[in-house]
Amino acid sequence: MKVLIVGKGGREHALAWKIAQSFYVDRLFCFPGNAGIAKVAEIPDIKDDSVESLLDFAIRESIDLTVVGPEDYLAKGIVDAFEAKGLTIFGANREAARLESSKAFAKEVMKTAGIPTAAYSTVTDFESGDKVLKSSKYPVVLKADGLAAGKGVIICGTYEEAASELSQMLGGKFKAAGSKVVIEEFLKGEELSLLLLTDGTNVKRLLFSQDHKALEDGDKGLNTGGMGAYTPVKTGTDELYEKVDRTITRPLLAELKKRGINYRGILYIGLMVVDGEPYVLEYNVRFGDPETEPLMFMLVSDIIPYFWAVAGKETSLRGKEENLPLFTTLEALPELVWRSGYGMCVVLASGGYPESYEKGKIISGLDSVGENCVVFHAGTRSDASGNIVTDGGRVLMVTSCGRDIDEAVANTYKNVEKITFDKVYFRHDIAHREQERAK
Ligand code: AMP
Ligand code: GLY
Repeated sequence: MKVLIVGKGGREHALAWKIAQSFYVDRLFCFPGNAGIAKVAEIPDIKDDSVESLLDFAIRESIDLTVVGPEDYLAKGIVDAFEAKGLTIFGANREAARLESSKAFAKEVMKTAGIPTAAYSTVTDFESGDKVLKSSKYPVVLKADGLAAGKGVIICGTYEEAASELSQMLGGKFKAAGSKVVIEEFLKGEELSLLLLTDGTNVKRLLFSQDHKALEDGDKGLNTGGMGAYTPVKTGTDELYEKVDRTITRPLLAELKKRGINYRGILYIGLMVVDGEPYVLEYNVRFGDPETEPLMFMLVSDIIPYFWAVAGKETSLRGKEENLPLFTTLEALPELVWRSGYGMCVVLASGGYPESYEKGKIISGLDSVGENCVVFHAGTRSDASGNIVTDGGRVLMVTSCGRDIDEAVANTYKNVEKITFDKVYFRHDIAHREQERAK
């Protein structure tokens, strides 16, 4: 079959790397792609990255399955547009994507369904927001309602800080995304990511993983898109999974169904585990980045039948040479199979990220990494002389594994040291919590 991946980051490279190994895939395209993705997928010549242009391409090339990486495409309705033309596409439709594109909507759904999450108020004017802030405990969390490229959540230590932030958000700091603001209780605990494949009724889980959002070692400094991740997580027990399934996943899918929303795709639950109890911090309607990099690295199962089943096609799945037995439902597929041990990735970023940074720095050492290491590319491109150069804030995700967490850390950092570019920046303590627990 022919597969198209939409996106250009480390997440899409990890998906492309995994999909390229599928028994079912004979041609793989990715757009816009990057210099690393170009090694495992064809980067087609499409005039721009609009939904219309991607759709034209998918029709022209008879793409059998499209897999969407980024949330903005889902929020824009790429799934609805492709399905309207009879194409098979993996991802949440526009209505379902509101779980991520509107934090106020996500909170309201959770409240109605009785899902554990931080107590909150939604405000649209300063006066009522100010009242909430005056009666809040600190720190308090302010969240711009809409998509704000991961920057819309601010934890405020004092009333003064919160009032100033609220007035900036309502005043247009995040444009329309901040015209509604969720003010919520601060939860103290351990953050875990849980990604689920779902067709709206059935669920197949991925392993628990943990991101590191802070820029500096020791979880200090600015909030980023993620500086590294590992999987699995010791505190992500089967017991915790059962609790999440019972108190979060099932009530959520039932509530969405009640509203006529059929959730198909990946559901990313951002959890805060407080004294062993899971609370939802956020939902994302797509794969997490950088969690996807170690997850795809550790996944043994062929992912294509799962994507195919979730996308809801009841026709046969074509293998490389011939028609193969049907894989029609997610329910019928076995649980995903994983490599044992730990997988992890360390993000190599451009110095200055997440604020201002330079691009165009030549990257060296990419070919010197050892076996059992894959370097996923995020912000890279090939320059006119064929060098691979930096082209973004998060540049590379160096991904490796080990039989235990210490070995995974040692293997990953050994490879990190082989790659460099001017002003490269990375954290030195990815997976530190798991290492502490293993002592
Ligand atoms: P979000 O984009 O909602 O995941 O928020 C970004 C980050 O802010 C999360 O990964 C958490 O680290 C933090 N955060 C969000 N909501 C809360 C909360 N209610 N309590 C504590 N930390 C939070
Ligand atoms: N790793 C956090 C996210 O993808 O939103």
